[in-house]
Amino acid sequence: MTVKERIDWLRAELHRHNYNYYVLNAPEISDKEFDDLMRELQDLEKEHPEYQDENSPTMRVGSDLSKEFRQVAHKYPMLSLGNTYSEAEVTDFYERVQKMLNEDFEICCELKYDGTSISLTYEDGKLVSAVTRGDGEKGDDVTDNVKTIRSIPLVLHGNYPRSFEIRGEILMPWKSFEKLNQEREAREEPLFANPRNAASGTLKSQNSAVVASRKLDAYLYYLLGENLPEDGHYENLQVAASWGFKISEHMKKAHSLQEIFDYINYWDTERKNLPVATDGIVLKVNSLRQQRNLGYTAKSPRWAIAYKFQAERALTRLNKVTYQVGRTGAVTPVANLEPVQLSGTVVRRASLHNADIIEGLDLHIGDMVYVEKGGEIIPKITGVNTGARGLLLGEKVKFITRCPECGTPLVRFEGEAAHYCPNETACPPQIKGKIEHFISRRAMNIEGLGPETIDSFYCLGLIKNAADLYQLRVADIKGLVRMGLKSAENIIRGINESRNVPYERVLFALGIRFVGETVAKKLAKSFHSIEDLEQASMETLVGVDEIGEKIAQSIVSYFANPLNRELVARLKEAGLQFQRSEEDLSGYTDKLAGQSIVISGVFAHHSRDEYKELIEKNGGKNVGSISAKTSFILAGENMGPAKLEKANKLGIRILTEDEFLAMLS
Ligand code: IVH
Repeated sequence: MTVKERIDWLRAELHRHNYNYYVLNAPEISDKEFDDLMRELQDLEKEHPEYQDENSPTMRVGSDLSKEFRQVAHKYPMLSLGNTYSEAEVTDFYERVQKMLNEDFEICCELKYDGTSISLTYEDGKLVSAVTRGDGEKGDDVTDNVKTIRSIPLVLHGNYPRSFEIRGEILMPWKSFEKLNQEREAREEPLFANPRNAASGTLKSQNSAVVASRKLDAYLYYLLGENLPEDGHYENLQVAASWGFKISEHMKKAHSLQEIFDYINYWDTERKNLPVATDGIVLKVNSLRQQRNLGYTAKSPRWAIAYKFQAERALTRLNKVTYQVGRTGAVTPVANLEPVQLSGTVVRRASLHNADIIEGLDLHIGDMVYVEKGGEIIPKITGVNTGARGLLLGEKVKFITRCPECGTPLVRFEGEAAHYCPNETACPPQIKGKIEHFISRRAMNIEGLGPETIDSFYCLGLIKNAADLYQLRVADIKGLVRMGLKSAENIIRGINESRNVPYERVLFALGIRFVGETVAKKLAKSFHSIEDLEQASMETLVGVDEIGEKIAQSIVSYFANPLNRELVARLKEAGLQFQRSEEDLSGYTDKLAGQSIVISGVFAHHSRDEYKELIEKNGGKNVGSISAKTSFILAGENMGPAKLEKANKLGIRILTEDEFLAMLS
């Protein structure tokens, strides 16, 4: 692999993991693995400035924007901290500070709380806004939700400044987290992987009553403003505590490296007794004057660093490897372990992810393996203790070649890590999975139906695919286990109502591989009926913006399968929407045809997503970064200075919201 190829690979991986983590709230790798990839990329980019890329994952701090909340620009950007896992780098940090300051200094040692960060603004002693980090420049206004958190004061007491910001971490305590997951399990809802995801998911809830019921907590650790009471960060927080804020009792000022290491070592074990999750410690130069002297790099302060704890791990024996077939046919290997105690629970199984991971570990049955939890529910195997292998080495773990459910030979798509069972239409977990996807909320949203009912309908032979649902009658299902007349009627009503679900969602519901919600929308825009899509060639498909070969190929082979064509025909007969509605087609113009438009800043009349849609509806293309090809910039408040400079340099027109709307009206 060339350096350029490695850089491209790292960028693609980090973009994907970033999306999994920040948008989907479903990380696949540990923070440490993510940080290691990021660091490798940072190093390569530093060594090879010729491969610089404005959109590299190293350029951003992450984003958790979602469209439902009003976006608000941060008065002071919300930066992240440099991370390290090694004591040597803590020493480097300390010595760097020493050299740059060339005078005595104190380091404030704090716990690194593992939740979701929040910026609170107080005016005249009242909480006026609570904003998430977002992309660091602007975040979501979640004030109403935050007001439900009891440990955040709505009104202050004592001698507080007229106006200031205070930042901290919103957390879901372990106890609430466990209780919440138990309740979700009982209702067959997906579980939260860890308290961090539970806290951020809760904070983004549209219903603040839900937030209130989830029992969140918050610690504040950073006071910002023009007229702060003291020069010391530690001292300021103690004063803030007197205004009513919840400040950690475990902050400590250190005067030497030794005191810092003592703090780290103490909390490495003691943190297990805390009511909330922590993933490291934060070291901050205490004096604000000294902080100003040290300043910032592009992404983080030079006056602070985060030391992350190694995830807890245990050593145990690998007994065997079994395989699970998921809804998409993806086959996941699962390690069956000799039960072992790990951070408070007994671990019996761990994910092995894919064939490459097994190969990389050079796994043999009977090996002593390291298991890590790292804040996630599903533990994973991170290494083998080869020193513990005796003379008799167990059998090497070889990935299976046939589907454990239906016996079909497995396939592996180019560039993908997973093995798939290609028997989409007859492999039981895939059939059930496809129907489950079909009825799910974002697809057909059929009320009253869930995975368990689908499973029992399937096992009873009532349904073999989604089209069979539309033939069910109340009489067929009432009287089944846990199914009274009322539930049966509800289900049939739900199925009937789904006939009105718009075309683009029906396309998504079909579950064509690689056709997610966004792609389904794109397809619906370009192919106004299912017949148009069925007949589309590879060439036509690839011609559609953002449809690549992989997606195109998947669509072509979906419709090449007579069983899929038959399914679609039956669904059509059942009255599902397989073309765009008139209403949908109106409002489309080609006023912006051929134009590449960059959106930047914060807007007053519409959300960013609405503007994006407006651009697309009028035939334009919304692009992420400014280049010579950009037609114009739609700029709101607080357009980033770097973007502004670039636009001016390239002589690109900047339109305000009003100018843009006038142009379309
Ligand atoms: S200080 C400019 N202190 O860690 C520095 N952050 O990557 C502002 N965090 O986004 C952050 N505990 O969400 C600070 N005691 C602590 C913290 C802490 C947790 C989080 C925070 C921040 C991230 C830094």
